[in-house]
Amino acid sequence: MTQKNCYILGIESSCDDTAAAVINNGEIRSNVVATQAIHEQYGGVVPELASRAHQQNIVPVVHQALRIANIDKNQLSAIAFTRGPGLMGSLLVGTSFSKSLALGLGIPLIDVNHMQAHILAHFIKAEGQTAPNFPFLAMTISGGHTQIVKVTDYFEMEIIGQTIDDAVGEAFDKSAKILGLPYPGGPLVDKYAQQGNPKAFKFPKPKVGPMDFSFSGLKTSVLYFVEKEVAQNPDFISENIADICASIQFTIVDYLMDKLKNAVKKTGIKEVAIGGGVSANSGIRNALKEAEKKYGWKTHIPKFEFCTDNAAMIAMVGELKYKTQNFAENNVVASARMKF
Ligand code: KG4
Ligand code: ZN
Repeated sequence: MTQKNCYILGIESSCDDTAAAVINNGEIRSNVVATQAIHEQYGGVVPELASRAHQQNIVPVVHQALRIANIDKNQLSAIAFTRGPGLMGSLLVGTSFSKSLALGLGIPLIDVNHMQAHILAHFIKAEGQTAPNFPFLAMTISGGHTQIVKVTDYFEMEIIGQTIDDAVGEAFDKSAKILGLPYPGGPLVDKYAQQGNPKAFKFPKPKVGPMDFSFSGLKTSVLYFVEKEVAQNPDFISENIADICASIQFTIVDYLMDKLKNAVKKTGIKEVAIGGGVSANSGIRNALKEAEKKYGWKTHIPKFEFCTDNAAMIAMVGELKYKTQNFAENNVVASARMKF
């Protein structure tokens, strides 16, 4: 089969987004995501509700992805799906659906590691997006992940640092919740932060390994700080929201940059690629631009739709694996703790 008529369907269902996308020769023909609103009222993802919503969403989402790509399912060359890591109940929906569809159509099945996919999303051909050169450092920062990976080739990756507790997105969301902001609060913290003084209040940066992260202490210190201030002035939050958000954001971004600097120093690699929902943050974007000027780094951030959980990145990995006929057996099982 030539590259031209190779169409791969990617399916993602590892957490709370049901997604399907079609890739053709490195270009995304459709990228559909059904985000599950049900979790908002609980302030976080409820696994059982996520699995049920995936069950409801998966058929319409796949139909829509095929319709937008303007192809029939019989034109597909392979099905790529997220095998893990993620929530088991959520992964099972995408895995079972993909296995059945591949079997029914008589085409290969390709299993994809979600964390590798966040990194390989940088190789999607899209306007304004440049693929990094090997070797590079990839930092994936989202509501579910915080890790720094040394990437030597498409499938040669080594985790060199990661969180020992919460993910960075959780640190944003939990701090936002303490301030009475709705879930997910990260984007709102970012919005207020842009009008505030980042040095107004000081929060501690937890000490762990040089490239590892810990965020659970930050939310506790934000909580104690806010409780203490509100006891003296009930309007403290509303009167200082911009300064509080700017200070929290400054602490988090500075911490992420410290870890990246340590990774650059240790590996000697100055090409840095960022992915995951938190890469939308204005603070980290500005800090990376500054690092380009100050330290001569080369940095990459994919288009936002390829940063958050999406199936385009799964389809991208599918295409890379398809080229080397790296297929899964039909008895492949979902893996909640899948490693690289
Ligand atoms: O990648 P993503 O959509 O989903 C997963 O968690 O896998 O990331 C969502 C996370 C949430 O924690 C959200 O608050 C955070 O990304 N986020 C942000 C911003 N935009 C999204 N955090 C800080 N600043 C932002 N602008
Ligand atoms: Zn993810």
